[in-house]
Amino acid sequence: MIKILINDGIHPDGKRQLEAAGYQVDTDKVAQEDLPNVLPDYNAIVVRSATKVRKGLIDQCPNLKVIARGGVGLDNIDVDYARGLDIQVMNTPLASSESVAELVFGHFFSLARSLHDANRAMPTKGDTEFKGLKKAYSKGVQLRGKTLGVFGFGNIGQQTARIGLGMGMKVLPVDPVVDEVNINVFDMGDASLSVKLRTVKMEEMLAQADFISLHVPFIGKPFFTDAEFAMMKDGVIFANCARGGTVDEEALLRALDSGKVAAAALDVFENEPTPRKALLEHSRVSLSPHIGASTLEAQANVGKELADQLIAFFG
Ligand code: 3PG
Repeated sequence: MIKILINDGIHPDGKRQLEAAGYQVDTDKVAQEDLPNVLPDYNAIVVRSATKVRKGLIDQCPNLKVIARGGVGLDNIDVDYARGLDIQVMNTPLASSESVAELVFGHFFSLARSLHDANRAMPTKGDTEFKGLKKAYSKGVQLRGKTLGVFGFGNIGQQTARIGLGMGMKVLPVDPVVDEVNINVFDMGDASLSVKLRTVKMEEMLAQADFISLHVPFIGKPFFTDAEFAMMKDGVIFANCARGGTVDEEALLRALDSGKVAAAALDVFENEPTPRKALLEHSRVSLSPHIGASTLEAQANVGKELADQLIAFFG
């Protein structure tokens, strides 16, 4: 019997699908340090980002045929090493795109009206300094008509662009390999709208964008440093719901403090799970704890995509 260890959780539908296929599916979490004792019995491990599947662990698991990542980023898995041993490495690149894109806009709407900060101030001062707070938070901006830079135009970047187009934003995508994409803004049977977007040069996007959102993996060094921030419009609103390390956080703090970046949204951090305090405490940063893919819908999609792939593999 095929034995699958699901170590960072899975949507119940995905688990049911795997059990219906006749596999043994264990979902009790095994601590990282105990995995070398437990995983050798299994044919597959399914993880999110919490469990690390590194060379040392892989070497101790002769029965392991599949490492499956419920999600997009594979930085917690030694992918090349595993594939070199003929272990299949799977992920779910489509399942969470809408979920991440909606989170980006949650942050953008919040930052555009300083809701994140008003929500910090209202509980303590809302009943004593209402008028002062009203004045302090009365310089909001609207998204319609603004320019949205999308850095990385894969699945998630395209969903972010889709929402931006729907909002009436001008969208400038940047990508090293993608030239042109048809974005299906909406399709309601009788009425549909699809918009062709062409990628532009990084310099053009940086010079024009009022809002910038990142949708790239971590490649060992940041894409956004002092130089890139310097090329942005003054007062830009900047979001990283992609990966920690893609932005030099010291450079971001400098750009926030100089006013170059009016406000920033961060779902991911260089040093998870202990992000730097200066960002956590900054009044112009809207924060979330790496929840881009964590919606009910996205996790249901992830579970189904994983189960389909595992069943296709094991038969
Ligand atoms: C991903 O790479 O899919 C996201 O960063 C989500 O990671 P998580 O599944 O650990 O929340």
